[in-house]
Amino acid sequence: MGSTWSFSDEDDDGRQKKRGAEDGDRGSPKARRLLDNVENRRDERRRQRLASQAAFVAQCAQNMTIAVDCSFESFMTERELTSLGQQLMYCYGANKRASAPATFWIVGLEEGGKLHSHLRNLAGFDRWLGADVDFRSLDAIVPALENVVYLTADADDELAEIDSDAVYVLGGIVDRNRHKGITATKAETLGIRTARLPIGPGRPLQLPGPASHVLTVNHVFDILLNVQASASWATAAGCLPQRKTKRDDEPPRR
Ligand SMILES: C[S@@+](CC[C@H](N)C(=O)[O-])C[C@H]1O[C@@H](n2cnc3c(N)ncnc32)[C@H](O)[C@@H]1O
Repeated sequence: MGSTWSFSDEDDDGRQKKRGAEDGDRGSPKARRLLDNVENRRDERRRQRLASQAAFVAQCAQNMTIAVDCSFESFMTERELTSLGQQLMYCYGANKRASAPATFWIVGLEEGGKLHSHLRNLAGFDRWLGADVDFRSLDAIVPALENVVYLTADADDELAEIDSDAVYVLGGIVDRNRHKGITATKAETLGIRTARLPIGPGRPLQLPGPASHVLTVNHVFDILLNVQASASWATAAGCLPQRKTKRDDEPPRR
């Protein structure tokens, strides 16, 4: 899996230029001591930042993997692609804030395609921490994986619990469900097990009213993170949209 992030310090270039300028006019011993102190504090902050980035990635590796299958570009309108780009950004943000973050894979993305270009326009996308982008298709990746579950509202089986060793695949598609069953069919073709979230009357996740059980990518992502952290579907119910009346090609409410 090709990684797009690296432990980075965005200010490196600027700092080096500034340091070069400072070296030329360090002046008196007192000025040098002051500058040394400033540099030591900056180096310490940088060291702490890199250490916390490394700790975050190590934490992600201990938990489940959530892979968003971004191979459905041709099934979406421009507006829906923009919305998917936003949803992926929300997933990334939620993962960064999560007490038990997941490894986040973006798979099947068309290199140089429209979604890729939307993502590249997001600030810092090339440095998303704990997120890997793989331009290979899911079928090229799956044979190397042992424990894969494609989550789809059309599955017969219900997801009972989160397995930290599993890879949960979400369909990276915003379609107001006009392509009903597209992910279930794909999973079946690839021989991947499918599961739906336990949503519905008498189930742990309940939506108010006759709302659709087909959620946006970022809502499913939030629910998975929440269940992983709390080991409780009931707790994760708080992640469900209050009134799921919104079209899923509109930017999701946070
Ligand atoms: C907007 S839905 C896409 C609907 C699409 N027509 C399909 O067939 O999957 C985005 C993705 O979120 C996940 N998802 C949404 N609701 C779900 C549910 N109730 N159970 C499991 N996964 C769900 C699925 O991975 C789905 O592909």
